[in-house]
Amino acid sequence: MSLYLAYIRGKFLPLGFEELYACLEAENINYEIKKKGTQFIIFEADILPIKAVQRCAFLHSLVDLLAEGEIEEESIKIKKEYIMESVLEKKSFCVRLSKIGEKKVKLATPEIEKQLGSFVYSKFKDLDLPVNLKNPEYRFQVLLQENHFFLGLILWSVDREEYNEREPSKRPSFRPGSMKTDFARALVNLSRVKKGDNFLDPFCGGGGFILEAAFLGAFSIGSDIDHEAVLSAEKNLRKYKQGFYSIVKGDSRSITFRKVQAIATDPPYAIQSSTKGLKVADLIHDFLRNVRQILNPGRYLVFSCPSKQNPEEIVLNTGFTVETVIDARIHKSLTRRILVLK
Ligand SMILES: C[S@@+](CC[C@H](N)C(=O)[O-])C[C@H]1O[C@@H](n2cnc3c(N)ncnc32)[C@H](O)[C@@H]1O
Repeated sequence: MSLYLAYIRGKFLPLGFEELYACLEAENINYEIKKKGTQFIIFEADILPIKAVQRCAFLHSLVDLLAEGEIEEESIKIKKEYIMESVLEKKSFCVRLSKIGEKKVKLATPEIEKQLGSFVYSKFKDLDLPVNLKNPEYRFQVLLQENHFFLGLILWSVDREEYNEREPSKRPSFRPGSMKTDFARALVNLSRVKKGDNFLDPFCGGGGFILEAAFLGAFSIGSDIDHEAVLSAEKNLRKYKQGFYSIVKGDSRSITFRKVQAIATDPPYAIQSSTKGLKVADLIHDFLRNVRQILNPGRYLVFSCPSKQNPEEIVLNTGFTVETVIDARIHKSLTRRILVLK
């Protein structure tokens, strides 16, 4: 069993943590959390968890933990095998240093770099390894949380460009009220959708969620009450030519499908996208009661709505139980509350 450090990015940390746990579950990886920091977890896993982490939108990187300790510490023990392998093969390397946590390291940056960054460099330089900042064979990550450091070999790090390419503004058909791609991916991940599952978004709009589920290898089904939305989603999915999908027109409160194994959706908030005259709470309640018949027992449904709508109350008497509640503050007047239901 190896010790891994997962480093969460961005300002939506609770969402980042929950997304990671959901992906580990979806990929059937047994793990045990050893330590939780403000922006990372250290965990033990039975297999290399690459399949789980590479589908996470809010993860910065996965690191094979080599050493940790106080930054003032003189002797830092680093797993020998990496050094030996590097020496033998003369691999090039670079070191990244990031400060994390609310209480940033007290020392000024140059001093930290002198104390720790240069320590790591000198450690590897002593071994006569080439430094290559542009295209290194080994990338080391140093995280600093207060006076504690974590040093590890980067096994995977997020490619932000991949998400940027699918942002709503880059799609052939833009619809107002579309979620950013990383948010859509995170909500799809919270549904624990697996490769080969049937995935449903019954308020699909421009198709952001079904696109992400298709990228994960699911058979993606989207539906929307608005004919224009159906056309828009079709255009968008065609552009990325990803996987299998089907998009139909229908009302989420009455639509029927064969069984699906995962649902994630973003119903209208009556701000940018319309509820067609219904109260947000009534629309969501009726949709939940309807799709209860469609979702396989024991599987997950994820939806988001403004926190001021009290979504936990909307869920009462729908047949679902609330597993997780995550708040994400988007701006002054909108906090999205994301509910994971079973
Ligand atoms: C917030 S948008 C979805 C955006 C989408 N998640 C995205 O990121 O592109 C909500 C969608 O719900 C649709 N809608 C409203 N009432 C509906 C209903 N009763 N049944 C199905 N769709 C409905 C609207 O037409 C709109 O496209």
